[in-house]
Amino acid sequence: MRAVVYQGARDVAVKEVPDADIKDPTDVLVRITSSAICGSDLHMYDGRTGAEPGLVLGHEPLGTVVETGPGVQMVRAGDRVVLPTHLFCGLCAACARGLSAACLRVRPDGFGAAYGYAGMGPYTGAQADLLRVPYADANCVRLPGEPGDEREDDFVTLADAFVTGWHATELAGVRPGRTVAVFGAGPVGLLAAYSARLRGAAEVYVVDGVPERLEKAAEAACVPVSVADGDPVEQIRDRRRRAGLPRGEEPFDGVDCGIDAVGFQALDRDGFAAEKPSQVLDDLARLVNQAGRLGIAGVYAGKDLHPAPEGHSDGALRLPWGTLWGKGVTIGTGRTHDRRYTVPLRDLIVSGRARPGFVVTHHAPLEQAPALYEEFDRRAAGVIKPVLNP
Ligand SMILES: NC(=O)c1ccc[n+]([C@@H]2O[C@H](COP(=O)([O-])OP(=O)(O)OC[C@H]3O[C@@H](n4cnc5c(N)ncnc54)[C@H](O)[C@@H]3O)[C@@H](O)[C@H]2O)c1
Ligand SMILES: [Zn+2]
Ligand SMILES: [Zn+2]
Repeated sequence: MRAVVYQGARDVAVKEVPDADIKDPTDVLVRITSSAICGSDLHMYDGRTGAEPGLVLGHEPLGTVVETGPGVQMVRAGDRVVLPTHLFCGLCAACARGLSAACLRVRPDGFGAAYGYAGMGPYTGAQADLLRVPYADANCVRLPGEPGDEREDDFVTLADAFVTGWHATELAGVRPGRTVAVFGAGPVGLLAAYSARLRGAAEVYVVDGVPERLEKAAEAACVPVSVADGDPVEQIRDRRRRAGLPRGEEPFDGVDCGIDAVGFQALDRDGFAAEKPSQVLDDLARLVNQAGRLGIAGVYAGKDLHPAPEGHSDGALRLPWGTLWGKGVTIGTGRTHDRRYTVPLRDLIVSGRARPGFVVTHHAPLEQAPALYEEFDRRAAGVIKPVLNP
């Protein structure tokens, strides 16, 4: 089969690799119809998180089941399925609590796993013709319709971006009437902002420095805030004060809920070119209201081969802890627990209530993966969410 293979920093190739196949009785084999490229792939592409050359990339698969192992009960050949990034067993003590990103059985040397991801288990990636899906009864989320229909782009976001965006709003405690600021207008940030709107937030600000991405935020009825126009914390506070805060509530000119959809490769706002891993966390600490909440969905890697000047190879960071503590801020972090969210979010798409596919900007056959990675890495040419269609 053909697959997108990591060869070294900023070097991927489409190669012939051995076909994925059924290894355990509970596996199925899926033929991929859409496989998205993610900001998380770029942490590896940039040579930061220690991916081994030869790794098949991809963790956002949508496709059709072509073969089932003898132990599979719920899934049949021909089923259209989306596969959550963070695969899980469905049965262990963590999965039983809905904490599937902490599954105790999917990774021999730790907890939680993902397809095609450095340090996240032995699972081959999904930017390929075929994918082996372990614990298939737990991981396959069945979908209506036909491959390539009008919901193909909506459904592919269920593998990761929509679910992670929703998870971020959960971590940040977004409820009806809350004020929300999302840092990062990549697919995760845009879908966090979109989720906040779905959940009834009163105001949603989206901060970035890439004009096309801020335009998408505006399309999603959010308020775009460009770092090119100055300190985003002051911009949002000014805006809220000018809009008029009720008398006595002036100290709440920040936001109730802050979301980091950027992660450790955050750019220094000064110039928006060099990395400054604490930039977004510093800004969120300043912006969040007293007793507010933060949801940190952006990845902070535990291993960084080339840390930025103020970063560390083990992921240690200096944080404005006194500010956070003084305000009494609640902070949620980490990978999304797909098991909790994928099915209800699928049903929002099926009913027509959610159309998260609006973030998808580019489609290409597998062969064009190297060029697409290169453009996406530069956040160039309007590439926001690229999807490969093998
Ligand atoms: N928690 C999870 O389960 C999970 C799942 C998927 C992705 N992620 C992570 O979420 C993050 C976002 O993913 P994505 O696919 O949207 O990535 P992306 O790289 O497309 O988007 C990141 C955006 O952040 C912007 N940015 C950089 N510095 C900034 C700053 N100082 N202030 C504001 N914006 C800034 C960039 O311009 C870019 O548009 C990544 O770190 C990714 O690894 C986490
Ligand atoms: Zn992803
Ligand atoms: Zn488990």
